[in-house]
Amino acid sequence: MNPLILQELTIGLQAKPAHIAPKFFYDELGSKLFEAITLLDEYYPTRTEAHIMSRYIHEISAAVGDCDALVDLGAGNCAKASALFESLQPKQYWALDISKTFLDTAIANLQKQFPNIAMIAQACDLSQAIQLPDIAAQKKIFFYPGSSIGNFDPKEAHLFLQGIAQLLNGSGGLLIGVDLVKNREVLHRAYNDSLGITAAFNCNVLLHINRLIGTNFCLEDWEHDSFFNEQASRIEMHLRAKRDVTVSWDGHLAEFCKGETIHTENSYKYTQAGFQDLLKKAGFQKVVSWTDQNQNFMVCFASFA
Ligand code: AVI
Repeated sequence: MNPLILQELTIGLQAKPAHIAPKFFYDELGSKLFEAITLLDEYYPTRTEAHIMSRYIHEISAAVGDCDALVDLGAGNCAKASALFESLQPKQYWALDISKTFLDTAIANLQKQFPNIAMIAQACDLSQAIQLPDIAAQKKIFFYPGSSIGNFDPKEAHLFLQGIAQLLNGSGGLLIGVDLVKNREVLHRAYNDSLGITAAFNCNVLLHINRLIGTNFCLEDWEHDSFFNEQASRIEMHLRAKRDVTVSWDGHLAEFCKGETIHTENSYKYTQAGFQDLLKKAGFQKVVSWTDQNQNFMVCFASFA
C-alpha cells in the first residue's frame, strides 16, 4: 500500500465534510466509464469541443505553428490529441496521465498508426508539479482539452496554468478547452444522465479506494448526488450515505450519518472573459479563442508575444 495515498485518503475520509480527490475516479473501470460519459447525449462538452476543433482546425494550426513536441496532459485514450496529428504534425507526442495501464494500451495502438511520431507515455499526477520526460524538444505545445482545468478550484487553476507558462519559458503555447457557464438545466443533465453512467463513475471511486487502502465501502450504502452551485459557478459531485455507515481501514474509522456526503468533484464553469483573464494572469501574453455558436464551450491557444 502506498503510504502517501493512504495518508491523503485517510485525511479526506475523516474530514467533515469528507472528500476524495477526483484523480481517484480513474482506475481502469473509471477511465472506461469516463469514456462512456463522453459519448452520452447529455454530456455536451466532449462533442462540442471536438466540433470547435474540427471547424476551426486551420485557424488553430496557424495560431500554433510548428510543434516539436505535443505534450498531452491527461491523455486518457489519446483520441483527442491524435485527431490533431495530421494538422499540427508534431515530431514527438508525450502522453501524460494518472492511469499508466490505460495509457500504455492507447499508445501501443497509436504508434502503429503514426510510426513517424516518437511517442512517450508517462504516469503523471497533474495535481502535483508536472513531471516532463527528460527529452529535448524546442517548441512544446501543451494540450489540455476536455475542460479538465475545471476540476481545479480557481486558485489551483491559476497555479497550474502559471506552472505551464513557466515550463514553456516564452516559447510554444497551451491549447486548452474550457467549459462555459450556461443554462443550469443543461448543466444538471450533463452530470445526472438518464443511463446512470455518471452515477456509476462517481460510485466506482469507492471500489477503487477499497482496493487501494482496504476500506470496506459497500455500494448499496451510497448514492450519486450532483448539482450546479451557482454562487461558486461549479457543478459539485457528492456521494450521499443512504443509511448510517461505518467504514474502516488499516486501523482507521470514519462514521457517516444517513444523508452525510463525501465530496468527490468540482467542475468549474467559466465565462469567456474570466478564463482569458486567468490565462493572462498566469503569464501568457496572447490568447486566441474559438467557441461553438451556442457559446457552450471554448478552446483557447495561449502563447507569448
Ligand atoms: C474530466 N472532467 C473535465 C469531467 C468534468 O466534466 O468535470 C469529469 C466528469 N465528471 C462527471 N462527468 C464528467
